[in-house]
Amino acid sequence: MADLEVMIDSVGARGEGVAQTPSGPVFVPFTVPGDRVRIRAGAGDHAELLDLLSSSPQRVGPACAHFSDCGGCDLQHWQGPELLAWKHHQVKVTLAHRGLQAEVQPVVATPPGERRRARLALRRVAPGGAHSRDGDHVLLGFRARASRRIVDVQACPLLNERLSAAMPALRSLGPVLLRADGELVLEVTDTLGGIDLLIERSGEPNAALHAELARFAARHGLARISWRADAASEPELIASIASPALRFGNASVEVPPGAFVQASPTAERALLAEVLAAAQGVKRVADLYAGCGAFSLPLAGVAAVHAVEGDAAFAKALDAAARQSGARVTVEHRDLDRRPLQGDDLKRLDLVVLDPPRAGARAQCEALAKSKVPAVAYVSCNPATFARDARVLVDGGYTLERVVPVDQFLWSAHIELVAVLRRQPLNLARR
Ligand SMILES: C[S@@+](CC[C@H](N)C(=O)[O-])C[C@H]1O[C@@H](n2cnc3c(N)ncnc32)[C@H](O)[C@@H]1O
Repeated sequence: MADLEVMIDSVGARGEGVAQTPSGPVFVPFTVPGDRVRIRAGAGDHAELLDLLSSSPQRVGPACAHFSDCGGCDLQHWQGPELLAWKHHQVKVTLAHRGLQAEVQPVVATPPGERRRARLALRRVAPGGAHSRDGDHVLLGFRARASRRIVDVQACPLLNERLSAAMPALRSLGPVLLRADGELVLEVTDTLGGIDLLIERSGEPNAALHAELARFAARHGLARISWRADAASEPELIASIASPALRFGNASVEVPPGAFVQASPTAERALLAEVLAAAQGVKRVADLYAGCGAFSLPLAGVAAVHAVEGDAAFAKALDAAARQSGARVTVEHRDLDRRPLQGDDLKRLDLVVLDPPRAGARAQCEALAKSKVPAVAYVSCNPATFARDARVLVDGGYTLERVVPVDQFLWSAHIELVAVLRRQPLNLARR
């Protein structure tokens, strides 16, 4: 296909503009409906944007200088009501694909500047190194789109104030931690005690590096520094200055290094509000895929909670916080994909809360479909696996009552949701 001039008429599921061409629809990144563009055919049904010939009224200027290079954001050029309406539509279409109908509420928006965790790549480019351009320098940021290259991010409008302010200090770790052309990952989480930093780099830090990192933590007011060789290894404590705690309900949880934390406090509040509304008047709740207790501990204010979590360190942190605060939470460390709660485990429960990773909770939903548990509140970071699992629950007698999309990952094509499903009382179901 030669270069073409086309009009973008919609946006596809991955956030790319769609244009109709003589050879069928093509997907053009960074375009919005109403843009007139010149494109060049790429692989399959993808095209490269060559020129923006005339701009749609829906188009806005990006909030960040790194937009379109940095892989962190896909949709800064399309913001406001149209973007939220598109996310709403994506949820409806995904549900319809599984034959599910539900009242889908308006999307809960989240503001920029409040992301409290990030996984940053750090690279040292030294003179004489393969990537050296202008002497010894350090790259800190996110991966470029579809590439391992690091985009050197000076400021990210998504990050909260404390993480943004820490960027220069984190960058200064380059020469401390890396040899020429070396690379590592820094995972940062903002906690009440300060930033919790997890360094992911092969090898072990020697005594001198330990001491230097401890001084770094104290100098920059970090809560803690830990180290692991890779994502599968146990983190080792390097420096502990303050408690890396988060508050969930009335409890304070000392989160383990690299712990799962909802990225945006606004999104966490929105998800929790729906979970708590579903728990009105109930006595016994199971919170499955409980993490460090973002839902279990607030739920303990209204019901007795059994929290189940597959990561031993998260379960331990939640258990310690529950004990210390006297919250009505029992904690079980269990792999719910291999050993879902079933039979007697589910008897006497009034509500099951699910918040699985992207793969969803198929085995657990199959067990729930056979149970008599009256209600399920399902928090999902992947509408496709949610719809698959909700289909299983609906086929097992639940009604999909309410779906609330939450735009936790602002400026991406990603959308999260929280849904409530209830069993019809038996006498109604038979009519
Ligand atoms: C999306 S997070 C939710 C955590 C928590 N609800 C929160 O809001 O902070 C998913 C959690 O499921 C846990 N998980 C993943 N696979 C699991 C499995 N097979 N069994 C039990 N828990 C699992 C992860 O460790 C993680 O804590």
